[in-house]
Amino acid sequence: MSPNNNRRQHWINENTKFGAHGHGIEGVPIFRVAVSKRRGDFTMNVAIVLAAGQGQRMRSKTPKVLHKITGLSMVGHVIRNVRAAGIDQTYLVIGHQGELVKQEVPDVIHVEQAEQLGTGHAVNQCRVALAEFEGIILVTYGDTPLFTADTFQQVLEYQREQMVAATVITAIMADPTGYGRIIRSESGRVTRIVEQKDANPSQLEIQEINTGTYCFDSQLLFTYLDKITPDNAQAEYYLPDVLPLLLGDGHEIAGYCISEAQESIGVNDRVQLAEAEQIMRKRICRNHMLAGVTIIDPQSTYIELDCQIGQDTVIHPNTHIQQGSVIGADCTVGPNARLTHTQLGNGVNIEQSVVLDSTVGDNCQIGPFAYLRPGSKVGADCKIGDFVELKNTTVDTCSKIPHHCYIGDAQVGSGVNIGCGTITCNYDGEQKHKTVIGNNSFIGSNSSLVAPLRIEDGAYIAAGSTITKDVPKENLAFGRARQVNKEGWQKRRANSDS
Ligand code: UD1
Ligand code: MG
Repeated sequence: MSPNNNRRQHWINENTKFGAHGHGIEGVPIFRVAVSKRRGDFTMNVAIVLAAGQGQRMRSKTPKVLHKITGLSMVGHVIRNVRAAGIDQTYLVIGHQGELVKQEVPDVIHVEQAEQLGTGHAVNQCRVALAEFEGIILVTYGDTPLFTADTFQQVLEYQREQMVAATVITAIMADPTGYGRIIRSESGRVTRIVEQKDANPSQLEIQEINTGTYCFDSQLLFTYLDKITPDNAQAEYYLPDVLPLLLGDGHEIAGYCISEAQESIGVNDRVQLAEAEQIMRKRICRNHMLAGVTIIDPQSTYIELDCQIGQDTVIHPNTHIQQGSVIGADCTVGPNARLTHTQLGNGVNIEQSVVLDSTVGDNCQIGPFAYLRPGSKVGADCKIGDFVELKNTTVDTCSKIPHHCYIGDAQVGSGVNIGCGTITCNYDGEQKHKTVIGNNSFIGSNSSLVAPLRIEDGAYIAAGSTITKDVPKENLAFGRARQVNKEGWQKRRANSDS
């Protein structure tokens, strides 16, 4: 009896639209739905992520999958999304510069592929580890970072419901160059995948491509991986070659065509890296905008993954928000701002400034042209104005450093006013020293505060002072030569010259 007997099959027209697969799947045509006899336990899901290839076309010292988009490595995106899709165990196949990949992505199971003999060979390296496993294996690549967790989840659900031997995620590409082409029978059945290098001219015309992401019945996958041969233009073991073998033995395979072909972009060179970055960036901006953030020009706004922005904050062009920065509500950020690993309270206005590893309290005014270096903590209602550099400095509430200052390794109290041109001389050539400025002190313009130094609460430093000794509470300190006016001096000089 043929294994196809008693098998229920539905054939769905290519143009059929489905809207019931949860958000994100609206308008996705599913080419084929079929039911196979094989069932596994399906209580656990496993992913195999392929990342052993060299990625020669990147022309880089860094392994391809470690190149970053929106602040996270490509393989990092993939691992994060397979996890979010409910995968319990992720096997990462590493090879070329595997040690580096391992260091960067430690929290997965690493499987080594010593020689890169093709995608089928790569998956086969997990055979021993997964020998006992019965269930669904999601196979995807470390260089296709744009697949969403939703898509992974939907294809896993689809495979689970249909109980086919394999499901291939396909996409329609305007320019399919470089991808494996999906070959379907007259009735619309996926029969095999032909690689670009093996395709004949009419196959090259096909726009439906193999995205390289699949779900497999685990036991069938390893049974049939044993049977593929490197009999092709690249002399490689092609993973897609298991599909016709499965079909030949009467197992069912399905093609799951995603509507957002962009998700499947594989990054092979730096042009594609920039394209992937742009798509991811657009997604991130869109999510913030839908959550109530105004982004004046999303095209010139660079927000990395996992940054938070509060409601009614306005982001102006050419702003970079990086490394999990958190911005409160009702802020105005930019134009030309860079915030890296930084926290802003509510109502902060920050313009043309760089803030690194720092925190800024509510209602502060930062910039234009301020530079807050790592370790700066600015309390609420402060002003850190133009050409002010802070480094490893705490400024308490309601203080003002309005212009042209360098304040490093300092602790500034609340209600302090630091005049234009003040600097902390915090470095003696060998060591850094601390400056403490008490509450409600006034530092006159163009003062040099030579650390280590304590200026107590309410002290007053005369403008132009070089302060080398501690200043007690509410004292006035001068640290400059007294001015001498010489009456008639200019006239005398003129006479002696003649
Ligand atoms: C592969 C598919 C092609 C599909 C395309 C989608 C095969 C034979 N072809 O082609 O149908 O359209 O992806 O992007 O599968 N890798 C290993 N070990 C190896 C070889 C590759 O780990 O021995 C990894 C690579 O690091 C990469 C991924 O597998 O992450 C894909 O390999 P790549 O050489 O880019 O395959 P494509 O030619 O793009
Ligand atoms: Mg590729």
